[in-house]
Amino acid sequence: MPELRGKKVLITAGPTHEPIDPVRFISNHSSGKMGIAIAEEAVANGAEVTLICGPSNVKSSKEINRINVQSAQNMFDAVMAEQQEYDVFILSAAVADYRPKFVAENKIKKKDTQLTIELESTPDIVAALGSKKREDQVLVGFALETNNELENAKGKLTKKNCDLIVLNSLQDAGAGFGHDTNKVSILDRHNNISTFELKSKAEVAKDILRTIIAFK
Ligand code: C5P
Repeated sequence: MPELRGKKVLITAGPTHEPIDPVRFISNHSSGKMGIAIAEEAVANGAEVTLICGPSNVKSSKEINRINVQSAQNMFDAVMAEQQEYDVFILSAAVADYRPKFVAENKIKKKDTQLTIELESTPDIVAALGSKKREDQVLVGFALETNNELENAKGKLTKKNCDLIVLNSLQDAGAGFGHDTNKVSILDRHNNISTFELKSKAEVAKDILRTIIAFK
């Protein structure tokens, strides 16, 4: 399937780590498996692929230009530095929405009182790309939802100016974080919805790329 030959595809994957102090961080359960499966499938389709990946133990093949990052800010900086060059962006990373406002220089000592950590928003990578993207660039976001799935995903598609959004619901058994399987629906900005069965993440990656290739 050489449909992506000559195309440059940028993919984000995995969680981010938001430091609290030199030994602690805030994160989430994302494994990076879904985004890395998409990167492998894009390479198999002939694309030139850059994977900007948060901390993940999942390996990727040497054909993928992998840039490992830690925090949402690192991921934002890495994506924005290169965004002009790409034809397709697939933002599957589970980026932390909040980070500690102040990062302690030394390990925070345990005290008998409670500890409050003030959080601030991280930069929204997909929204930043959406506000700048050219007509010829395709922007694909992800939405992981636990309730009001379709409505929330449609809201994100519009608000972040995406062309397509891949919805996975944590209500579906076997879908989402850490599993080797996933069940997705893909919405596009013309209000088309494709719904897929529970499949291996490698098969889901094929469905996602086929839908992107067919998108007009
Ligand atoms: O709003 P929410 O975080 O659920 O949106 C999910 C989508 O936004 C995903 O595509 C995710 O990769 C992207 N995102 C991002 N930067 C953030 C937060 C989310 O690119 N700071």
